[in-house]
Amino acid sequence: MNDQAHNDHSRRRLIIAIDGPAGAGKSTIASRLARKLGYVNLESGAMYRALALKAIDNDSSLDDEAALLKLAQESRIQLEPTLGGNRTQLDGQDVSSRIRERDVTEAASRVSVHPGVRAWMVDRQREMGAGGGVVMEGRDIGTKVFPGADLKIFLDADPVIREQRRMQQQKIKGEIASNVAADLRERDRRDRTRAASPLMAAADAVVIDSTKMGEDEVLARVEELARGKLESARF
Ligand code: DC
Repeated sequence: MNDQAHNDHSRRRLIIAIDGPAGAGKSTIASRLARKLGYVNLESGAMYRALALKAIDNDSSLDDEAALLKLAQESRIQLEPTLGGNRTQLDGQDVSSRIRERDVTEAASRVSVHPGVRAWMVDRQREMGAGGGVVMEGRDIGTKVFPGADLKIFLDADPVIREQRRMQQQKIKGEIASNVAADLRERDRRDRTRAASPLMAAADAVVIDSTKMGEDEVLARVEELARGKLESARF
């Protein structure tokens, strides 16, 4: 075994939290960072989206917390990191594309305000990430899910830039980029003002404003921080 491989094996596997508002680039950075480190990338938002889809399919009210919690408890929501990206399964069905559609996006934002739903999600997310070797992204990973995470990043960007990036992503996917700005602003408002775990940077998070940074530049910065943590975590 060469020294590098030996060092890699003797390293602790970190828990890395990446939080921030929609459109700040979390998903791309989290998945690229996970690939570089040989870690698993878990998108916590996909779980809220899967529950929202189930609520839509069951004609369940998005305001009825008890009904939503019951639905969550009866559901099998699985995040499957694959080489080709993350897949989300709901009750054994691949819903990865469906959960990105506009109605589910809007519903997920509403589902996620309920404290009982959040508590259920947080428990599942802790189970998934407890062993380390994960880059988990969301809104409350550093503040609530893993307050003791080894590295916390809060990735932010100017709202106008975030809207432009979202529109660009939708155009690439061949979707009509309508109401992107209004939708994003409303989701931002809900994320930041909800009573349970509102979106905010943890006191010990490294805040990165990517407004004027390219994706590679952000990744390099985050990777440097992660490698620094790995060095200091070596036993
Ligand atoms: O990251 P995303 O857009 O896929 O998240 C979908 C919704 O879930 C979004 O409206 C915010 C919410 N969410 C949350 O409240 N907490 C998380 N940890 C992740 C997502």
